[in-house]
Amino acid sequence: MAEELYDFGMVGLGVMGSNLLLNMADHGYGVAGFDLSVDKTKAFEASAKSGQRLKGVNSLKDLINCLKAPRKIMMLVPAGKAVDSVISQIKPLLSKGDILIDGGNSHYTDTQARIEALKDSGIHFMGIGISGGEEGARFGPSIMPGGDKEAYNEVSEILKSIAAKVKGEPCVGYMGKGAAGHYVKMVHNGIEYAIMQLISEAYDILKHGLGLSNKELGSIFKKWDTGEMKSFLIEITGKIFDVKDGDSDKELVDFISDKAGAKGTGKWTSQSGLDLPMPIPSIDTAVMMRNLSSLKDERHEADKLYLTQLNQINTDRRDLENFVREALYFGMVISYAQGLAMLTKASEELQMDIPLEEVVKSWRGGCIIRSGFLDVFADFYKEDPQLRNLLLEEDIATSLKQKLPALQKVISLVAENNYTAPGLMSAFCYFNAYRRKSLPTNLVQAQRDFFGAHTYQRIDREGTFHTIWEPAKA
Ligand code: 6PG
Repeated sequence: MAEELYDFGMVGLGVMGSNLLLNMADHGYGVAGFDLSVDKTKAFEASAKSGQRLKGVNSLKDLINCLKAPRKIMMLVPAGKAVDSVISQIKPLLSKGDILIDGGNSHYTDTQARIEALKDSGIHFMGIGISGGEEGARFGPSIMPGGDKEAYNEVSEILKSIAAKVKGEPCVGYMGKGAAGHYVKMVHNGIEYAIMQLISEAYDILKHGLGLSNKELGSIFKKWDTGEMKSFLIEITGKIFDVKDGDSDKELVDFISDKAGAKGTGKWTSQSGLDLPMPIPSIDTAVMMRNLSSLKDERHEADKLYLTQLNQINTDRRDLENFVREALYFGMVISYAQGLAMLTKASEELQMDIPLEEVVKSWRGGCIIRSGFLDVFADFYKEDPQLRNLLLEEDIATSLKQKLPALQKVISLVAENNYTAPGLMSAFCYFNAYRRKSLPTNLVQAQRDFFGAHTYQRIDREGTFHTIWEPAKA
């Protein structure tokens, strides 16, 4: 009897690829995974629970031959050349109607180019963002599929079954046309960078300003992990302070080098923000701080030169703790607001038709930036799918106005005592600039016109104007 065909195929049995397939198998799907490593395919097959259908193959041809039509194949290989290499090897083996998915963190412009390149072959190419790391892949990630709607309809049932669930709803939805899936994932990562930066600033102020121990810091972050701030990033931060270094009885966090790495998605978000253009300074600041953190030698040299002291902050401990909490809340809202405003703009500019409510709902569970805020934001986008910026929403305005004095207090203490909190400061400046009906950029316009005849508009009448700002030099 012929072997029963499998529902889904994976190229790459790394941590993410194998865990996603195991997740699918838990939901009753027969799954096949390709990897060149025989050890990996054997280990994958050996992890089958009773009644599950898991197949490991070591050639792409075998993968293609064991899948049901139309074939649904995901690639989970490093972004960049590896994706193109798999596409060129697998394309001749595929048939019209088959669906090839890139589930990695590819740059959206690469995804768009691949969609175009495969269009005439009749092969559907989809870019799908997946968030949640190893555990998410295994037990419920947030999934951000975009592209061909016909192909989405074919795979949506499988994706819904494996995605994280919030209030019974799967954290997956159609993110829009073309490369929208990877674009939305990129912005997710940009927000991830911004929130991580803000949390590190809160940690710095509490640690050095109040002289708190890791135990005390851990319990503060655990306490903060409630209500709208209940979030994966605050939750893991609380846990990090408990973990001991294996070689001593001290906490591991104190032995970790402060040079922060980055794989590029934050930078891509900033680049796209500049291109749109849409201001996303909280994300830009976070990218900048990772870059600055890597200038370790220069920072050591400057430290000797400036002999900067991080002063103890002389404010009541409970008060400062509350101020920092409110400031972090404020910064988190601003980070989401910037990322979501960017998606709204990109949806139009890049013609992706990104449904913001779907995005926010998909981020409520499974992903790295999941938090209680997103449940609230989903209602705003439901009411007004065209909402240009969360800051224009009345309830957000009420809560930010209420938290503003705490942020101001933290910023002034930071400045007086030599702390480094560019995330909080930039959230404050963005907020203050965004809510002002007039900015001093009229002077910038005058300067541009002065030296470059770039023209300007007036506030009292229509038209484009140029002024001879000083008499011509003889
Ligand atoms: C996720 C993460 C994931 C990855 C980041 C790390 O959503 O699961 O965002 O995609 O951990 O890309 O990015 P950096 O190495 O740039 O911090």
